[in-house]
Amino acid sequence: MSTIQYRSLSPTESKIYRKIRLESLKAFPEAFSATHEEALKIEKFGMENDIEDQVLGRFVFGAFSDQQLIGICTFVKNEDYTGSLYQMYVKKEFQGKNIAYELIHSTINEARKRFKDIEIFLEVAPDNKRAYHFYKKTNFKEVIKRKTEIVMQYSQEAQQKQ
Ligand SMILES: CC(C)(COP(=O)(O)OP(=O)(O)OC[C@H]1O[C@@H](n2cnc3c(N)ncnc32)[C@H](O)[C@@H]1OP(=O)(O)O)[C@@H](O)C(=O)NCCC(=O)NCCS
Repeated sequence: MSTIQYRSLSPTESKIYRKIRLESLKAFPEAFSATHEEALKIEKFGMENDIEDQVLGRFVFGAFSDQQLIGICTFVKNEDYTGSLYQMYVKKEFQGKNIAYELIHSTINEARKRFKDIEIFLEVAPDNKRAYHFYKKTNFKEVIKRKTEIVMQYSQEAQQKQ
């Protein structure tokens, strides 16, 4: 397999973001709170504008294979100096190859470069066993468990001990 590149999406890449985001909603409808059908109706996603404007606190990191975008992870800074990860997705044929692992860590590193020591959270559906297992592996700890979602927090401490 060719080398995978991990980087923030540039202003000209908002459309490829839209394409892969729609693809993820279609391929894994149970994984996300948004639906493919509803998303199709939205002419332009807020994140497309954020990519074009290169907003500091809202960015999309991508994994690229041969210049093709094959995975995304979105970071959004919240008002209280915490950050959230959303929209984590790797194309099916590239799953199980540690690409998601590299992608999420590259995103966290970029977020912490922009916002020093920021705490990072995400939410996962309780029946999304693969994603839950993946997040555990990447040092996220469960902090809140609700019926419809599990809130997880990134643990830097665990990362440093490795
Ligand atoms: C979540 C996602 C990005 C993870 O990427 P990935 O390439 O599948 O990740 P990996 O294969 O490296 O790791 C998945 C781990 O889950 C394990 N796994 C796979 N299916 C599983 C299941 N049903 N139950 C428990 N663990 C499972 C794998 O064995 C692997 O663990 P291991 O490395 O200890 O063997 C990817 O699966 C994806 O895009 N899923 C669809 C969208 C999605 O669910 N996004 C998350 C929204 S919160």
